[in-house]
Amino acid sequence: MAGESVISVRHLKTYFYTEKRCNKAVNDVSFEIRKGKCLCVVGESGCGKSVTASSIMQLLPRLSRIEEGEIIYHTHDKGDVVLSDLGKNSKEMRAYRGKNIAMIFQDPMTALNPVFKVGNQIAENIRQHDKCSKAEARKRTLELLKQMGIPEPERRIDQYPHEYSGGMRQRAMIALAMSCSPDVLLADEPTTALDVTIQAQIFELMTKLKEENDTAILLITHDMGVVCEMADDVLVMYMGNVVESGTAREVLKNPKHPYTRALLASILVLGKGKDQNIQPIRGMTPNPYNRPPGCQFEPRCDFACEACRERMPDEEVIEGTTHMIRCCNWREACKNDGE
Ligand SMILES: Nc1ncnc2c1ncn2[C@@H]1O[C@H](COP(=O)(O)OP(=O)(O)OP(=O)(O)O)[C@@H](O)[C@H]1O
Ligand SMILES: [Mg+2]
Repeated sequence: MAGESVISVRHLKTYFYTEKRCNKAVNDVSFEIRKGKCLCVVGESGCGKSVTASSIMQLLPRLSRIEEGEIIYHTHDKGDVVLSDLGKNSKEMRAYRGKNIAMIFQDPMTALNPVFKVGNQIAENIRQHDKCSKAEARKRTLELLKQMGIPEPERRIDQYPHEYSGGMRQRAMIALAMSCSPDVLLADEPTTALDVTIQAQIFELMTKLKEENDTAILLITHDMGVVCEMADDVLVMYMGNVVESGTAREVLKNPKHPYTRALLASILVLGKGKDQNIQPIRGMTPNPYNRPPGCQFEPRCDFACEACRERMPDEEVIEGTTHMIRCCNWREACKNDGE
């Protein structure tokens, strides 16, 4: 893939262990997040999107651990750093977290501390990473809160998280993540709780960060409208595997995997008019503790064959492209395309 990679995730496996059972939440996932580009990660609930992002940050939930694989951060000054080799509480990891690699969580209270004023938390973050005066950090905090559309920022800067509404907390957390212009921004459903005008403002800020600072963005979202708007690259996940990936043009304009095609057929596309034929994906995602032995999508797939029941198909990259598909029958699935 053209363009410099900032984060390489290689054969990542992150498993959960509960009551002597193992959930292979992320099972052999590889991808690159490129400098100044936005990688959108899509897939149904429970497919491992959040666990993948938390693995990069090394902020995994209890009972889970990185089992195998590597997460490499290509720094501009210190060469390649293998994040997955650093202890999650090591000094080095803590230094990267927040400054170089920032994350916007699904739940804002995982990032905001309830006992400190919002403004102080953001200003502290700025000062921890950029040596500037308190007054300067406060000025930049105020500016950020304004950009996030927080009403009355001069007053709100000195309030505690519980005095903010849910949507405002979300925006404060985004301000916190963006406060020191990170190299990499991991955004997990950053705007789900927000109304559309604020959503648009936040995506505009993310685009600005990407274009002006060359920030590499990983954006997890359910909203295909957002994907079409924001993505340079797309990663489609299903039950812990990447089933299709490539540039936005490759994956969205020419989806090949039956799952991606079903996913795209299950949503309304803005601008396509009201006569769209919406097809929900049949069946449900399997129980993660009782998975199909082969391709995870096989029980719901119209093109499944014996081979799919036996094992997960290998990755196949279409020659001369970056378009990867993990399906042995994608040609069959696409045979009527372009008619
Ligand atoms: N804290 C946890 N404890 C136990 N299992 C978990 C935990 N968090 C996630 N999992 C399991 O890991 C798998 C992947 O979950 P993950 O949260 O990454 O999904 P997701 O793709 O982010 O879904 P969503 O779209 O709903 O946010 C699921 O099977 C889920 O049940
Ligand atoms: Mg999630």
